[in-house]
Amino acid sequence: MAFKQQYKNIKTKIIEKVILITLHRPEALNALSRDLIDDLNHALDNAEQDKKISLIVLTGSAKAFAAGADIKEMNSKSFTDLINDDFIKPWEKISLCKKPTIAAVDGYALGGGCELAMMCDLLIANENTKFGQPEINLGVFPAAGGTQRLPKAIGKAKAMDMILSGRMMEAEEAEKLGLVSRIISSENFLEQVLEIAKEISEKSLPALIMAKDAINSSYDTSLSQGIIYERRLFRSAFSLDDQKEGMQAFIEKRKAKFKNS
Ligand code: CAA
Repeated sequence: MAFKQQYKNIKTKIIEKVILITLHRPEALNALSRDLIDDLNHALDNAEQDKKISLIVLTGSAKAFAAGADIKEMNSKSFTDLINDDFIKPWEKISLCKKPTIAAVDGYALGGGCELAMMCDLLIANENTKFGQPEINLGVFPAAGGTQRLPKAIGKAKAMDMILSGRMMEAEEAEKLGLVSRIISSENFLEQVLEIAKEISEKSLPALIMAKDAINSSYDTSLSQGIIYERRLFRSAFSLDDQKEGMQAFIEKRKAKFKNS
């Protein structure tokens, strides 16, 4: 399996150990059509398998990260259509990636676009970013994890406010509430995100994967079970060459050279 030379709805670029995936459907503000999700998932499968890649950055355009589900593709669907074909299920792939993921969010992140960003591990925005779950204005409500991930990220009061009113939230408020990892200025936004991505991608990939796994397990387990799981993963880290290298490098006052093994 290999990256396609040319995707219709996304662009891909490999920069050292980072893959940058850019949603590219400008005529529909990157609305998440089936074809776009197919392209995205093809690239994600490749990124997961490619040993040279340690981290995935997902971005959109300056106007829109993504304006949500493709309303024109969805509007005529029936209950039976949705029972037979859960078109949202394939959107979840990015949340299942083992490798770290960063959403670099500029412009509108609405509906499924906000939900896609929340599926990533780090959510980096700039001062122009606007988050929203406006599905209520369409007579529906979020269904790609928005009713679950949003309250966990920003609390019930604010999640209710956003989802029931459909209002947009500026990046500054989103960062204060814990939805956004960092706000970075819009000047050279992507370059700055890629710097962060590069820094993370140079760490030990197995350690990154285990750290991410441990954090994600905290959503589904009790504290005591989660701590047991964390400790097991920590013990496993001591089977890595990278653990020996990382600690030796500290003692020798040099930068560690990780081999991802
Ligand atoms: N689906 C399909 N097309 C969309 C779209 C969407 N979600 N969002 C924008 N577009 C299209 C517009 O129809 C328009 O196309 P035409 O030029 O052919 O008319 C084009 O993109 C540009 O959009 P606008 O002219 O509306 O641009 P604007 O700057 O005036 O407004 C906006 C921008 C506020 C983001 C507005 O486009 C908008 O409100 N979009 C819809 C947002 C939304 O409701 N998202 C939730 C979708 S439902 C969902 O995601 C379900 C789920 O959780 C599972």
